[in-house]
Parts: sequence; C-alpha cells; structure tokens
Amino acid sequence: MDSFGFRDGQLYVEDVPVSLIAERFGTPTYIYSAATLRDHAGKMKEAFAELKPRLCFAAKCCSNVAVLRTLVQSGCGMDVVSGGELYRALLAGCKPEDIVYAGVGKTAAEIRFALGQRDGVEPAHGSVRLPEGPIGCFNIESEQELAAIASEARAMGVRAVAAVRVNPGVKAGGHEYITTAHEESKFGLPIDLAEAMIKRFAGDKHVKLSGLHMHIGSSITDPQLYVTAVERMIAMIDRLAVAGVKIESLDLGGGFAADYQTGDAPAPREFAKRIVPLLADRVRGGLRIVLEPGRMIAANAGILLTRVLYTKQTGARKFLICDAGMHTLIRPSLYDAFHFIWPVSVSPQHEPLRRSEALELPGLEACDVVGPVCESGDFLAKQRMLPPVTPGELLSVFAAGAYGMSMASRYNSHPMPAEVLVSGDGVQLVRRRETLADLVAHER
Ligand code: LLP
Repeated sequence: MDSFGFRDGQLYVEDVPVSLIAERFGTPTYIYSAATLRDHAGKMKEAFAELKPRLCFAAKCCSNVAVLRTLVQSGCGMDVVSGGELYRALLAGCKPEDIVYAGVGKTAAEIRFALGQRDGVEPAHGSVRLPEGPIGCFNIESEQELAAIASEARAMGVRAVAAVRVNPGVKAGGHEYITTAHEESKFGLPIDLAEAMIKRFAGDKHVKLSGLHMHIGSSITDPQLYVTAVERMIAMIDRLAVAGVKIESLDLGGGFAADYQTGDAPAPREFAKRIVPLLADRVRGGLRIVLEPGRMIAANAGILLTRVLYTKQTGARKFLICDAGMHTLIRPSLYDAFHFIWPVSVSPQHEPLRRSEALELPGLEACDVVGPVCESGDFLAKQRMLPPVTPGELLSVFAAGAYGMSMASRYNSHPMPAEVLVSGDGVQLVRRRETLADLVAHER
C-alpha cells in the first residue's frame, strides 16, 4: 500500500493535496509519505519475524536525514556504503551498532570513522555530538580491505566486527547495471576465495570475522533466486563449521522489488515464505540475520512533483517539457526504468485505477515527457499515454522515493530540488530548494 491517491480528481499524499505543496515549496520537489515508509518497514519486519532480523534500511536509496530518522524511529538500523551515509545515519539517531557498512572502496578515513573516530567530523542539524562507538559490522569486499580495516583497528586499539561479502554466483535483478552477484561483478568474493580468506583470518586479533553477507541484485521479483543463494551460503556455513570456524551472522542484503506498475511485484511475505524455512532452525540455534531492503521500503513512499513548462507539437511527437529531468530523476535515462506519470489534477473520468503504461481511459494522447537538460537522453517517459496537459500543470512521477533524489545531480547547473515529508496532515520541508548561490558555494 502507499499513501498517494486521487480524491475528486486531486492527488493527495496522506491528507495533503499535492498541489498545496507545489504552491508552498515550488517544483521540482520530492514528496515522501511517512505513513508509507512505516508501513513498508513494518510489513518487512512482520514477514520475516520468525528470523528476528535486524532490518537495516539501505540508506543509498533515499538518504535524506529526516527519512532515515523516520525509519530509525520505527526500529530500523541502517545499511551504509560511504562515510557520508554513515554520517547521515548517525545524524538520524541510528545507534552505531545498528549500522552495517558495505562497499568495495572504503578509504582509511571512512574506516576510522566507522570504527568510532569522530575527530574532525562536525555534527550538524542541531545535534550536539554524534553517537560514539564502532558500527555493528563491516561487510568486507576484498582481502586488501580486510588488511586495511585490521590495520586501522590495531592503531585505534579496537576490534572491528566484520562479515565477508560473498558473491554466490546468481544473476538477479532487472537492468544489467544493477545485477551484482554474477561472476564478472566487482562486488564481493566468489565462494571459494571467501571461504579460504575466512579460514585464514578467523581469530584475527583486530578483526572479528564472523559473518557472511550477500546482496544479489536489485528489483528482484523471483524468490527462487534468494533460495538458491541462501542454500549456497548455508552450505558454506556448514563447511566452515567443519573447519572449526563459527559463522554468527548472515546478512541477506536487499534487492526485493517494489511495485512500480501493476501490482505483480511480490510482497515481502512472498519472499519470506521461501526464505524463512531455510533459516528458522539456524536462527533458533543462534544465527543472527540481517536484511538490507531499500527500494521495497522507499520506492512507493515518494513521488517527484514537476511542473510542465511548455508543450510542443512537432510533426512526429508531442513533448511535455518539464522542470524535472534526468538531473532530478535519472532512472528512466540510465536504466530505461518505468515510472508512472500522471497529472496532479484531473477530471473524474481520468482518475487512474492502476499505475500501468496502458490505461484504457478516453481521450489520452501519446507524449514524450522530457526535462530541460541539453541531452537527447533527458526524458522521464517516452510515448506515454496521458490526459491532455497544458503548460503550467503539475505532473506526479510515481514510485520515485528510491534512487530518485539520492541520484540527482546539478547537471546544467540546476539547483537541487526540495524535499518534503508528509505525515497525516503535517507537511515538513526536510530539504530546502537550493539557490543559485548554493550552486557555487564551494567554488573559489
Ligand atoms: N545492500 C547492498 C549492499 C546494496 O548494494 C544495495 C543496493 C542494497 C542493499 C539495497 O538494494 P534494494 O533493496 O534497494 O534493491 N540505482 C539502482 C539500484 C542500485 C542498487 C544498488 N545497491 C536503481 O535505481 O534501480
């Protein structure tokens, strides 16, 4: 479920008409629904309850501190992939021990920050200081990274807790750019190398290497892919046990698809139904489970609000030229991703019943929805059937909560959009729109 819907032809987010948000804060603006974020996190938790997982939200998909705080307050930990995301997670009030840290290129400074060093890291957002202490787990992606973590931990006199990111050799996920666990992927280590490394370094004085991590891809709709990967991980845990190495935690990563269109993406319980039976006994035996969902929680919790600046009819096409484009939401350009787009204010006959490409409603016309950026690849949708749209109208780009704002850029020197978080009838500006001065603030 999400909390974006039409009432009398007007799009609402929870109890707030979206057009009011445009009036107050302008466009382009990302709008998030707190109720949807909480609902999705709750459903994930409920579905996997038997495994008592630590649910670490993948901060990369929607990293606004207020969004992270909403999820921390509903019991989530955080999955981060950089010092910047770690900083955001701490500002959001996440306990360091509830943070897991993946990524192939952690720098020495980032490793020290994650181990608890706070020197030179300024608090922000009114917080007096950042919570102290090391993160819960490093998800290590190479032997050199392990050595780097060991060396920083030794220097700081602490012992890092770590898991090895294993590449279980499953090709999963939508677009080629978001598959991660196949042989040629830069992520993780193949099973044999990971196993050899764990055997060699188990018992290391500076790194407690006691976990396994996997993340097999994104936008995954087929639970069987998890089953295959988890079975491989379990076999690995058993082989390591025979070799005298005890694995205490298993992180299954994220990747659970969101419903962008027709409702055919499986809900969390469809995944849980297949995954939980594989692990329930082991959890009763003491194995701890971590999940890192991003998209499933955030995608449908956000929309991108944009205004149509001009319409243009050439011989071949009708264009809706908007103030949002590939710089605001790059997913259509980069992955050919589908995002449902619809006017914020429509006549009753044009209220959409589904968010799919082909809607059988009267009087629709094919449009290319494009942005202001000087690239032919700058589009939000091509040949999309839409009700008649005139200049000045507002459009909503749906399911834009994940990998929307967090992948936005200032290309063509467009200031970054605003972000708004709605809860009930409460509207909070959680990132103000950038100004022209912001654009050049760091230049000399
Ligand atoms: N854990 C790790 C280690 C990851 O690398 C990712 C995503 C996640 C968890 C969360 O995956 P999710 O549950 O959101 O699928 N920009 C692309 C998606 C890239 C995913 C990167 N890693 C897109 O817009 O589709």
